[in-house]
Amino acid sequence: MRRYPKLIDEIAGIPVRDLARDFGTPTYIYDAATIVARIAQLRRFDVIRYAQKANSNLAVLDLMRRYAVLVDAVSAGEIQRALAAGYPVAGEPPPVVYTADIFDRETLDLVVAHGIPVNCGSPEMIDQYGERAPGGAITLRVNPGFGHGHSRKTNTGGEHSKHGIWHDEIEACVARAARFDLRVSGVHVHIGSGADMEHLAAVAEACCGFARRIGPSITTISAGGGLPTPYRDEDAHVDIDAYFEIWHAARLRLARDLGHPVRLEIEPGRFLVAESGFLLTELRAVKREGANLFYLLDAGFNALARPILYGAYQPMAIAAADGSRAERPFVDVVVGGPLCESGDIFTQNERGEVRSERLPEARVGDFLVIGCAGAYGFVMASNYNNEPACA
Ligand code: LLP
Repeated sequence: MRRYPKLIDEIAGIPVRDLARDFGTPTYIYDAATIVARIAQLRRFDVIRYAQKANSNLAVLDLMRRYAVLVDAVSAGEIQRALAAGYPVAGEPPPVVYTADIFDRETLDLVVAHGIPVNCGSPEMIDQYGERAPGGAITLRVNPGFGHGHSRKTNTGGEHSKHGIWHDEIEACVARAARFDLRVSGVHVHIGSGADMEHLAAVAEACCGFARRIGPSITTISAGGGLPTPYRDEDAHVDIDAYFEIWHAARLRLARDLGHPVRLEIEPGRFLVAESGFLLTELRAVKREGANLFYLLDAGFNALARPILYGAYQPMAIAAADGSRAERPFVDVVVGGPLCESGDIFTQNERGEVRSERLPEARVGDFLVIGCAGAYGFVMASNYNNEPACA
């Protein structure tokens, strides 16, 4: 059986037709069971810290909280969402952590007011936080000098990346923190999104090396996020146990050297939510332009930006308007949205060239369901062309 069948009639046991009738289109749908299954795979890490930038839907955050998943926030808005979903501000390990490369003024006020721990990605953040909240602890997000990601735009390490404190500057940053009586209690490294396991594994040694340079004040290390997700039938799931073992072994060596236990956190976004999500759209035109047959939907890059931004592949399926599962012949189609912009095409590569997708024959009124849309879907949507937000 295909992971992503091309003809479907239900999502998580609910007829597509009923979902469209009840919520309209376009609508994002999330299957909680998939998220719960992914959480279970990561339980061996001491802390699962969900990178909510992937999907900060309040129901999703509430689910995470109920399954003891802690949360990362990258803005004042994400902190407010975590609080709205019921996360407490205080606790050990901290329920909410702010990770970024800058503080805007509002966010600095908010983290100081609530005592939310900060993971600093620039030397300036240390000064700005230290002036307002001296005498506590911070963690450092370090750029290890190498990175990897599913596209240039999702690679967050190396000298072309704006993220993190450059690895050479660790000692200077520890001294900077000391001026405000701030202890550096953790190191965090995130090299990119959708990296491969070989690159992700290299991070463990680098991260523990940084921790040794900082010394005994270190009590936590974070493996960051970036775990890949299968977007295609032929993509494999990553071996989480093997990944854990690499980090666990590195952590144990570090703990031995420091003389005390070290907590190991992981900070995934996509891995937890991508596969749970579906963007339900309705087919509004089936038309030919020369050699190409176009399926035009009522959702475009206003609703899901990944294909146009990265040439990202998203699996697609047709669901018949009448709920039937009768086989249909397949056709090669280009799939686009309603926006007044020629790049509003879901089937394109990283260079922006249009490609076609083999899908069942469909008519106006049938549904097209975009799969694997739970991460970086709704959260990256816009209201370009004054299209309203998806349900
Ligand atoms: N931690 C940090 C510090 C991050 O910057 C990110 C992602 C994550 C964790 C979570 O990464 P994940 O496990 O989801 O790969 N919009 C792009 C992805 C950008 C990711 C930005 N940072 C996409 O749609 O592929």
